[in-house]
Amino acid sequence: MSVSKPLPHDAAALHVTGQARYVDDIPLPKGALHLAFGVSDVAHGHLRSIDLAAVLAAPDVVAVLTAKDLPFHNDVSPSPSPEPLLAVDKVHFVGQPVFLVVAKSHLAARKATRLGKIEIDTLPAILTINDALVAKSHFEDGPRIYEKGSANDAIEAAEHMLEGSIDIGGQEHFYLEGQAAAALPQEGGDLVVYSSTQHPTEIQHKVAEALGKPMNAVRCEIRRMGGGFGGKESQGNHLAVSCAVAASITGKPCTMRYDRDDDMMITGKRHDFRIDYRVGHDAEGRISGIAFLQLCRCGWSMDLSLPVADRAMLHADNAYNIPNMRIESHRLKTNTQSATAFRGFGGPQGMVGIERVLDHVAHAVGRDPLEVRRLNYYRPSGDASGGDISAKKKVQTTPYHMPVEDFILHELTDALIKNSGYYGRKEAVSEWNAKNAILKKGIAFTPVKFGISFTLTHLNQAGALVHVYQDGSIHMNHGGTEMGQGLFQKVAQVAASRFGVDVSKVKITATDTGKVPNTSATAASSGSDLNGMAVKAACDTIRDRLAEFVARRAQADIATVRFEDGMVTVAGESLPFEAVVSDAYMNRISLSATGFYKTPKIVWDRIKGEGRPFFYFAYGAAVTEVVLDTLTGENRILRTDILHDAGASLNPALDIGQVEGGYVQGAGWLTTEELVWDDKGNLRTHAPSTYKIPACSDRPDIFNVALWDGANREDTIYRSKAVGEPPLMLGISAFLALSDAVSACGEGYPDLEAPATAEHVLEAIERVRA
Ligand code: MTE
Ligand code: MOS
Repeated sequence: MSVSKPLPHDAAALHVTGQARYVDDIPLPKGALHLAFGVSDVAHGHLRSIDLAAVLAAPDVVAVLTAKDLPFHNDVSPSPSPEPLLAVDKVHFVGQPVFLVVAKSHLAARKATRLGKIEIDTLPAILTINDALVAKSHFEDGPRIYEKGSANDAIEAAEHMLEGSIDIGGQEHFYLEGQAAAALPQEGGDLVVYSSTQHPTEIQHKVAEALGKPMNAVRCEIRRMGGGFGGKESQGNHLAVSCAVAASITGKPCTMRYDRDDDMMITGKRHDFRIDYRVGHDAEGRISGIAFLQLCRCGWSMDLSLPVADRAMLHADNAYNIPNMRIESHRLKTNTQSATAFRGFGGPQGMVGIERVLDHVAHAVGRDPLEVRRLNYYRPSGDASGGDISAKKKVQTTPYHMPVEDFILHELTDALIKNSGYYGRKEAVSEWNAKNAILKKGIAFTPVKFGISFTLTHLNQAGALVHVYQDGSIHMNHGGTEMGQGLFQKVAQVAASRFGVDVSKVKITATDTGKVPNTSATAASSGSDLNGMAVKAACDTIRDRLAEFVARRAQADIATVRFEDGMVTVAGESLPFEAVVSDAYMNRISLSATGFYKTPKIVWDRIKGEGRPFFYFAYGAAVTEVVLDTLTGENRILRTDILHDAGASLNPALDIGQVEGGYVQGAGWLTTEELVWDDKGNLRTHAPSTYKIPACSDRPDIFNVALWDGANREDTIYRSKAVGEPPLMLGISAFLALSDAVSACGEGYPDLEAPATAEHVLEAIERVRA
């Protein structure tokens, strides 16, 4: 069967030979126009005047648009709170689009934007978390609070109390393909839009609104993205809507792509957080209560910040049963880029909070952080579902009152500790540190428990459209998008398995709102869970028709028909799949079907913080060892061992790729990737020259990644588990390994900030020595 085979990415050869076609590679009809934004260079102020005469007079410029030239809605927001495409009356961050240039070439459009004269009466800007707290600048009326037990009472009553705070920086997505879109006018004012988007239905929806048309006038298509990482859930709206509006005004095809600097200046990034904590614990490190204060910097517009901040709260427990926990979350509005979805969607920030607490408590009680972690793990749920009522009662619940029924981290931890040789290496690290004054080593273990499902319940649905042509070849379409994660190949493997044919028989096609409507963003790691099931449903409908046809012909029981190895077997006779399909066609049997799926079991009240937001949890754990130069703060990852739970993997090769990439991206976030805004609100790190993503050489020297061998206890597609986001959080172990290395420099707690840049590491060394 095709499912579970470690096949390469379906487009791997196209990627490496440069043949893979991205939005900007699509040949456009003659006369296509190019767009670029003129942006604000002030973080907050009133627009006094906009003089665009010089822009319009620039070579090859065809038109210049401001907010008042937009025919219908000036809104690109993915949330209920509006977000203008072009600024109206006020500007809210440096980089905010104010006008749109339409020109005959990309370069002409970009050059002309520099000629706009925007006069702005500057207002005081709210830039930092502290600014926002002082100004009481929030997105929701009050803070969100989720609570289990009474954290304050438990902390008061505890043997020991500690408190602290951690700053956690944001992160630029740095997808290799920047944002891009194109719009092609059709007859009668209809439009075809190509967009580098994780969310084609949202593009269709926003474009239709902007043109004052119904959604059926717009079709959005996307074959692939060169990376999205959450940065293409909502941030592509601006380009697609701009192209659509300019195309409808000029009647010409229009295209737009951001230059890298523009991309970094204009689009949202991962939310930065400050997390304050108070903890009650005993002398062994057993935690009885935690109070978290999560301060989340959202930027100027709401975008997806509310569900991102919710997910941070939902991961404030990570793998630990904390009997009393209170999480208070503030969503702060600032005059900076609107922070957006980024792999993990707030979960990573919440998890850094609790992992910091575990590390801090271990330091306070003088024990191995691994032991303290295990002490606080959720209880194994093991056979709790096996009908034993007393065992069932013992299932522990999260701070949002969801039973943790599938906790496998005890076994998984045992296996990883053994395979990685943790204890021996911990010993060796201590010996090394005792002998070496300048180079210090550190080692850290991090577990991950990540909730799978969209917390907005209605998003957990998907559709598919499958055709079998009369020659037996299969055409597969679904609502998911391909961004490098390998979704299309995994789902093609599902389709091939349903028909019992080779995966080469299945044509993978571009995502298209005209084929599968009303789709959710490919996000929350649920692409293969949702679309895999929808495709399975569509395939099974066709397969059942074929089975009925051959069974009737052979006067056999339909249940005995088999689809295997390219053959259809009934009543002891095997026929090639192609022959059966061709016969079915001749007998006028429909060979096309849609499929639909919705995730069962989930219910969630985000205001009360109660329910079952997740269908299941995905687990993993990592051990990272680092070496640190205490004179310069420079450091390297020496070795990483990971054991990750992808359930019964649909494709172990692609899943391991996701784990490796996720880990490196997580480690980059918490170590070298630093976003710096100056006191005027200018992002100073807006190019690879100043923003340091991990390079190939930053990959751990020794990198052992294995998948946990176990099926999902929930009924997911072939019992697999989602794998897109969870491994990012394994990168926390790189951060805590650096903290461990810093600890070797003195007695104090390092209190390391994230990202652990060389500067922050040196500051932490000063602290532990003091
Ligand atoms: N992997 C690659 N190569 N490129 C990406 O853009 N995005 C991540 C993850 N892995 C991403 C990736 C994010 S943010 C998500 S939500 C999932 O993939 C989405 O795809 P899936 O639901 O099919 O896992
Ligand atoms: Mo991923 S952040 O859910 O696109």
